[in-house]
Amino acid sequence: MVSMEEFMKIGFVFYSESGHTLSVLNQLEKVFQKKGHFVEKISLLEGYDIKKRVLTFFPKVKEFEFILFASPVQAFSLSIAMSQYLKQVQLKESQKVGFLLTQYFKKPFWGGNRAIKQMKNFIQDFHPIILGEGIVHWSSKERDTQISSVVDKLGSVLDE
Ligand SMILES: Cc1cc2nc3c(=O)[nH]c(=O)nc-3n(C[C@H](O)[C@H](O)[C@H](O)COP(=O)(O)O)c2cc1C
Repeated sequence: MVSMEEFMKIGFVFYSESGHTLSVLNQLEKVFQKKGHFVEKISLLEGYDIKKRVLTFFPKVKEFEFILFASPVQAFSLSIAMSQYLKQVQLKESQKVGFLLTQYFKKPFWGGNRAIKQMKNFIQDFHPIILGEGIVHWSSKERDTQISSVVDKLGSVLDE
C-alpha cells in the first residue's frame, strides 16, 4: 500500500461493445486500487449511437493525474466512438496518459498499431506524457498471458 500522499486519481475513459476491453480494465482497476489509487471508469458506450455512429457524451478529464484511453480496434482503425471523443478532448499540457487496445486478430498490424497511432495523433497538441500502451489480441492462444502482461505493465506506470 502507498501512503495517502501518493494516492492518485486515475481515469479510465473507454469504449467497449462486447466487454473485452472492459474485462481487461476491470483487472487493471484492481491493481491500481491495491496500490491505493482511486479509479474512475467512464464508459462512452451509453453516449454513443452505434447505428448513427454519433457520440454525444464528452466527459472532461483534466482532473485526472493519469488517464487511460481504452478501445477496441474496429475496421483496422480506432473505434469511431473513441475517435470522436479524442478529436475534441481537452487535456492539460503534459498530462499523463496511457493507451489500451483490444483486437480480434493476432497481430498488431491488423489495426492495433494504426489505432494507437490515431490515439496519439488526436491528442498530440497537448504534449501528453505517454506512460504506457498495450494491445491484447483476443483470438490469440496467448491471450491470457497478454492480458496479465498488459495489466502488469500498465498497472505499474505510476510506481516510483
Ligand atoms: C465492427 C467491428 C469491426 C472490427 N474490426 C476489427 C479489425 O479491424 N481488426 C481486429 O483485429 N479486430 C476487429 N474487431 C474485433 C474487436 O476489435 C475485438 O473483438 C475487441 O476485442 C472487441 O472489444 P470490446 O468487446 O471491448 O468492444 C472488430 C469488431 C467489430 C464489432
